[in-house]
Amino acid sequence: MFGIRYAGWAVLALASFAAVSVQAQPINNLVKTPPMGWNSWNVFHENINEKQIKEIADVMVSSGMRDAGYIYLNLDDNWMAKKRDGNGNLTHDPDRFPSRMKALGAYIHSKGLKFGVYGDRGLRTCHHYNNSNQFPGSESGSYMKEERDAKTFASWGVDYLKYDNCEPASGSNQQKDYERMRDALLNSGRDIVFSICAWGYQDWMPKTGNLWRTTGDIANAWKASATDWFRGVADIIEENEKHYANAGPGHWNDPDMLQVGNGKLTDNEARSQMTMWAIMAAPLLTGNDIRKMSASTKEIYMNADMIAVDQDSAGVPGHRIKNDNGKQVWIRPLGGEGSGKMAVALYNSSESEQTIDLNFEDIGYTGEVMVRDVWQKKDLGMVKDGLYSNVAPHHVTFLIVTAKLDPPEPFSGKAVDLPGTIQAENFDKGSSGLAYSDKDSENQGKVYRTDVGVDIVQVDSVDASKGYAVGYTNAEEWMKYSVNVKKAGKYYVFASVASGLEKSGFRLFIDDKAVTDTILIPQVPDWNTYSEISTETASIDAGSHMLKLQITGSYANIDWIKFCTNEKCEEENEEKPVTDTPKDKTPAADKSLGLATSLRYGVQPMQAFRVHSMNGAFVGTVYASSIQEVQMKIRTLVPERGVYLVRSKNGMTFQVRR
Ligand code: GLA
Repeated sequence: MFGIRYAGWAVLALASFAAVSVQAQPINNLVKTPPMGWNSWNVFHENINEKQIKEIADVMVSSGMRDAGYIYLNLDDNWMAKKRDGNGNLTHDPDRFPSRMKALGAYIHSKGLKFGVYGDRGLRTCHHYNNSNQFPGSESGSYMKEERDAKTFASWGVDYLKYDNCEPASGSNQQKDYERMRDALLNSGRDIVFSICAWGYQDWMPKTGNLWRTTGDIANAWKASATDWFRGVADIIEENEKHYANAGPGHWNDPDMLQVGNGKLTDNEARSQMTMWAIMAAPLLTGNDIRKMSASTKEIYMNADMIAVDQDSAGVPGHRIKNDNGKQVWIRPLGGEGSGKMAVALYNSSESEQTIDLNFEDIGYTGEVMVRDVWQKKDLGMVKDGLYSNVAPHHVTFLIVTAKLDPPEPFSGKAVDLPGTIQAENFDKGSSGLAYSDKDSENQGKVYRTDVGVDIVQVDSVDASKGYAVGYTNAEEWMKYSVNVKKAGKYYVFASVASGLEKSGFRLFIDDKAVTDTILIPQVPDWNTYSEISTETASIDAGSHMLKLQITGSYANIDWIKFCTNEKCEEENEEKPVTDTPKDKTPAADKSLGLATSLRYGVQPMQAFRVHSMNGAFVGTVYASSIQEVQMKIRTLVPERGVYLVRSKNGMTFQVRR
């Protein structure tokens, strides 16, 4: 449950978060974001075989896991035969992998996945060593065979090596053993991710591997006893956090594989593991039998916001900023400096429900920020100053917080001179940020901006010269523009617009007073065919004004609006007062492009009805599809009550009472 707790603070500003300094150069160009995939150990342990692994590959695709980002399929311990082949090379277990590793790798690659295997820096792998009676004389370790084994892996198409720490040779040096395998992989002719599994962070690791385990093995449990080699999820969260400053793109802390879906963690605990792994920029290696995933396990693994946090391209690992008896606040800056985006976890490590406060000032924001709840998959909208969340034991509230920012190009924020043209994306900047109101928290489709704000659509698909338009703009949403009116008087307004829906339109306000009725936008089938429409506003005084463009009815795209002093938008006529009584009693033919576009697509067209006073003076154009509609609209066009002459395009003249 959420609530808003803080009230009434100052103007919005975003504190910049210094990125964590990451000194080490990555060993290669791989895993710029933490690796994601599946590993066999947590669920199958030593019992792996090629049929089952191929089924896993199939399900990684059919379940959508691959497309969600889980691309590494990693075989853990015991894929290999006890003995090497006649040439001294590591080789497949003949009973369980009869088709051999190269063929398995090819199958995995054919599914669009990457192929991972496991090795050991000592004499035997952990499983072979821990079960010495079954594996006497096993030759599964790579000690002093690193070059050979790395080349073998490369020849099989291996993309990822997890390299364990069991049965070191006497007199060997751990760091040197890992460095030899690093160099062998770099020399293997293939890009292979190097995952160090040595159960604790050491300073040489960022220079040696792409990732390194920070703790003992993860148990299928929330908590373990302090002395147990196996660690619970909650224990690992505590232990891994200490190392956050050592990780970054290409070199990651590895708090071990995920236990979600293995039957012991509750859904709350499962969400906590995913949240904290994502906040800590940890590898997301699922460790369950994905062939039998429950709907809730799948939903937890596939949450797109959670994955986006984990995979954030800035690669800055998050860390804890507060721990008050298990009421913990964690943050992870997202998107690089100046993005205004941050992941926040309100994590309850205690055994009872807790109310956890989040004061935005504590995480560098003041005023209003946009908040999204990752697990509820819900936007909470703009929230001022702070919030609190009641968090169940072992659970977490996972938020993405975004500040309002100064706009990037193409927003100019400058006052536009009238007569003149306003490009729709040129919102007024003013002193308090962009002036707009958008109902959507995230933009959709082919957009210019991806954070807060109205959607900016590139309209190059039709005509590159059109640049950007304001798109996906929903009814009631609006943009404000500073205008500088050079010449008082009546203005003709032209606009380039498109809408795939009936009844879309817009309305203009000057200094919050409506100066037009709804101006309807002709419906087009593809949203991209912009047509020019025209109307006339009331008089505008000279000087500075705030012009508001508000969408009505339904979604609309607007490319530009142009204010002209005459019907033809000709400069030389600017001096001529447009309300002068014209001598010509036969109005000129309508030249609306909007009408032409409507007709072309066979949509019930709006007509341009020309309105005259009884003495024949032209007073304006009304867009409507019937004379009844004209009767309604004429009120916004002419201030005085009376009888007017209305002419339709085909020359019919009606008398309309206002
Ligand atoms: C070690 C590792 C585990 C797993 C097993 C396999 O314990 O830390 O992750 O790879 O070996 O035997």
